[in-house]
Amino acid sequence: MTNSAKIPLQVARPNHLIDLAVGHPDPDLLPVELFNSLSPEQLSFGYQNLAYGEQAGAEPFRQMLAAWLAEDYGQPIKADELLVTNGSSNALDMICSLLRESDATVLVEDPCYFIALKLFKARGFNVVAVPMDEEGIELQALEQAIEQYNPAFIYTIPTFHNPTGITQSDNRRRALVKLAADKQCVLVADEVYQSLYFDQKPPAPLACYNRDAPVLSIGSFSKILAPGLRLGWIQASGELLYKLTNSALLFSGGGLAPVTSALVGALIAKGEFQNNLAHLRQTYAARSELLYDGLVSTFGDQIQIKKPEGGYFLWAHFVDGRDVAAKRDQARELSVNYLPGNLCSATGQFRSSMRLCFAWYPEQQLITACERLGEVLT
Ligand SMILES: Cc1ncc(COP(=O)(O)O)c(C=O)c1O
Repeated sequence: MTNSAKIPLQVARPNHLIDLAVGHPDPDLLPVELFNSLSPEQLSFGYQNLAYGEQAGAEPFRQMLAAWLAEDYGQPIKADELLVTNGSSNALDMICSLLRESDATVLVEDPCYFIALKLFKARGFNVVAVPMDEEGIELQALEQAIEQYNPAFIYTIPTFHNPTGITQSDNRRRALVKLAADKQCVLVADEVYQSLYFDQKPPAPLACYNRDAPVLSIGSFSKILAPGLRLGWIQASGELLYKLTNSALLFSGGGLAPVTSALVGALIAKGEFQNNLAHLRQTYAARSELLYDGLVSTFGDQIQIKKPEGGYFLWAHFVDGRDVAAKRDQARELSVNYLPGNLCSATGQFRSSMRLCFAWYPEQQLITACERLGEVLT
């Protein structure tokens, strides 16, 4: 399979620069053939796919999705706790619309997914950073921030965190969900990397921990099938789910993505989605290992790196505190790029860290990237 795309993409792979700053799948790993080979039976659309549909998303698709999630999470999941979205970004935007009030604050991890920071600011939220440790968001600091700011919600990435790769332990998850329940503070868990584990499955998404707590877990097909589908979901229950499902957006337009969800449902039903996902896990695992080994042999004990266990990113920190953010232009001149840590931070910290994506390029380019990084950063 080759990348024969001629149309302009959101971000196309540049000719000379090896750009490890973005978070895209390798074009050659997009399931073009899978979609092109769907048979007429698999493509049998019903009126429900072409009419204004059920506000939560087409029921047959949610049933299929719930069955796959239950298997993947090892948890009972029901179709009626799922709301179909146009991906995680859309889900976050819907949640912002629901929870925005004047002077509203959102608590985020530091560092955080940099585009979520932009989204929250653009939506008028006051963004307050809470520190992380090696098990995720620090609970004592979080509790203090909840008391101080009375936030509209907390935003967390519990699994294969973007950018740090950290996965919250089972204990941390329990305590975090309990805190949200005790304080009645909405907890938004962006779980787009949950099913992209390389070896061991991570603990379950936060919404599985307590159905009575105000927790929303967001999932997406962007990283586990294809971002162009613009297909994802929110797992939730109770009043929050009711309010999201009965928003003016869905009341006016009906459920999201009825046609796309039918296509993806067909791939799940045949097990083809699952096979493709197994291939992605293997491929990204091999690439992450190669990039990790390449960086270790290039920089030795100058850097600390968390070995990726899933997801798209590797986070590397220079122990002597050197300013890698300041070296970025020089790196680009040498045709390699990374995301400096300060761009992932609401406080502008982490200038000695960088996020590197191992998903967009095949092995040989990752090796070349390490050589170029070595020239600029040692
Ligand atoms: C943490 C996180 N959330 C959301 C997204 C975007 O997801 P989607 O394509 O489903 O909107 C990304 C993509 O990089 C991400 O890393």
